[in-house]
Amino acid sequence: MSKKVLVLPGDYIGPEIMTEAVKVLQAVSEKFELDIELEYGLLGGAALDECGVPLPDETLARARAVDAILLGAVGGPKWDKVERHLRPERGLLAIRSELQLFGNLRPAILYPQLAAASSLKPEIVSGLDILIVRELTGGIYFGEPRGIRTLENGEREGFNTYKYSESEVRRIAHLAFDLARKRDKRVCSVDKSNVLEATVLWREVMEEVGKDYPDIELSHIYVDNAAMQLVMQPKQFDVMVTGNMFGDILSDAAAMLTGSIGMLPSASLDQEGRGMYEPCHGSAPDIAGQGKANPLATILSVAMMLRYTLGSAEAAQTIEDSVSAVLDQGLRTPDIFSDGTTLVNTTQMGEAVLAAVLAA
Ligand code: IPM
Ligand code: MG
Repeated sequence: MSKKVLVLPGDYIGPEIMTEAVKVLQAVSEKFELDIELEYGLLGGAALDECGVPLPDETLARARAVDAILLGAVGGPKWDKVERHLRPERGLLAIRSELQLFGNLRPAILYPQLAAASSLKPEIVSGLDILIVRELTGGIYFGEPRGIRTLENGEREGFNTYKYSESEVRRIAHLAFDLARKRDKRVCSVDKSNVLEATVLWREVMEEVGKDYPDIELSHIYVDNAAMQLVMQPKQFDVMVTGNMFGDILSDAAAMLTGSIGMLPSASLDQEGRGMYEPCHGSAPDIAGQGKANPLATILSVAMMLRYTLGSAEAAQTIEDSVSAVLDQGLRTPDIFSDGTTLVNTTQMGEAVLAAVLAA
């Protein structure tokens, strides 16, 4: 039976990087006879312009019906002035929440060829392989009440609610421990339990679930220290598990260790392993339409999709090896360029990966 993938290119650089990722997906699909059918839909600013809302019902209905979703990036200054509930990012948050994609996997792996592109010294980052497991459908991103209200004295006050239920923590804990089993068997849970009650409970539940995994070493760290350790001694980490907001922040920091956020893919999974796949970076309005965007994070997201949802580890590996091969060839988009390498544009990078896939 064919597998269906919904492609949501999104905004600004979204369509540019998606064009390259789709080429690569179609190539592996033919090569490995995967019988993948693509559908296209609108999300974010593109949907707002066309349908008046950032997540149209039709997109959501299709998203529910397919096996996997491939997303570019959403948002940008064009929609800065729209009402808060119509912002493109709201479409992204809504689709994550509606599909209960609670488990966000953000692997920060340093390709040895890019050691010079990292802002840290090569010896600090060489061999880096961290998996950030970010809770994606709870925490302060979704907590109610939220809003901006006017106080009695006439001053305005912004407020959000940071909360996690035991079951929300439990399911992300299980995901993190299960993933650690396939790696170096270490989980570091990131919280702020010296200040925030919500994360006192988070830590307790992590400990509880950890008892089911005696083979996994569990440690805890405060988020401020985690940020410091990430830039000081990042190789100490294997799996890091954390809440929505801390995960958002730490994954950007971890991305830079690998040379560029343009290299970082992600998977967002539900309880059944169905998922949405997207690069960790945003829609980069400043470089849109100039051929400067790095398509590799999206191409590597296709690899994650093949591995986690479409059941083809072989095709996934072929893509990952092909990315490594083009880096070996010295090809670099501007974000990962350094002396002695060859500067290429978005299309050239995509075509090079495609050629490597076809040659594999
Ligand atoms: C990410 C992004 C999103 C988030 C934005 C675009 C809403 O930064 O996926 O990390 O904060 O989750
Ligand atoms: Mg982010």
